[in-house]
Amino acid sequence: LPHVTTKRLQEMKAAGEKISMLTAYDYTTARILDRAGVDVVLVGDSASNVFCGHTTTLPITIEQMIYHARAVVKGVQAESSRAMVVIDMPFMSYQLSSHDALRNAGMIMKDNECDAVKIEGGRVIEEAVKRITDVGIPVMGHLGLTPQSIYKFGSYKVRAREEEEAESLLEDALHIEQAGAFAIVLEKIPAELARKVTAELSIPTIGIGAGPSCDGQVLVINDMLGLSKDFHPRFVRRYADLDSVMQDAVSRYVEDVRTGDFPSPDESY
Ligand code: KIV
Ligand code: NA
Repeated sequence: LPHVTTKRLQEMKAAGEKISMLTAYDYTTARILDRAGVDVVLVGDSASNVFCGHTTTLPITIEQMIYHARAVVKGVQAESSRAMVVIDMPFMSYQLSSHDALRNAGMIMKDNECDAVKIEGGRVIEEAVKRITDVGIPVMGHLGLTPQSIYKFGSYKVRAREEEEAESLLEDALHIEQAGAFAIVLEKIPAELARKVTAELSIPTIGIGAGPSCDGQVLVINDMLGLSKDFHPRFVRRYADLDSVMQDAVSRYVEDVRTGDFPSPDESY
């Protein structure tokens, strides 16, 4: 199967074919995603929350992101190598200067065979996007409820409901496209604004809590599999209840060990 490239995503937008994206943080999950035909696998800094247990995405380091990236790339390569793999640049790995941003993007790209990096923000990171894309590293943008700015926002509420912030977001999107980004994630903004941004941009938008008009959709794998027990925002559709499945399996194992039922003669040498 042909590998999904930035060019392919552009063609998908033009043809009105929706782009599917999901996060993965490990080899086993990445294999399942590629096998299932997901177009883009995102090694999200949401690993900070769902993998490491932090409250926010801020604490995860570039070394930790690279560790996850290696595992995910190997997983996709172990299957059809079809999915594009995008790595989130963590908090403070690209904000200090465009020089710093380029060095860190280069470090990620040099370490493994991933396809692109993703960074959060609008005009503030325009220079970084330009610098990184100028040397040939594809950059995915991310606007709206950008989790690395959670302390500024003060809540996980929908962003850009007011006219001023909506206009600013559209302006940011146009600048990030102009700077060279190949796609932009729109997180938790009104569906109507996402529709407008998607129509104005020539590059694909990928929504999470941004309505049906985006060129693609993304979810955090733990959320859509029902593995994040206390997280029920309306934008998450649960395709499984893996928390219950795993809880049940582990409980039965514990019981079988306690009673001596496991291992049986057949399971012994
Ligand atoms: O880190 C992440 O999982 C993300 C997606 C929600 C877009 O950035
Ligand atoms: Na992220």
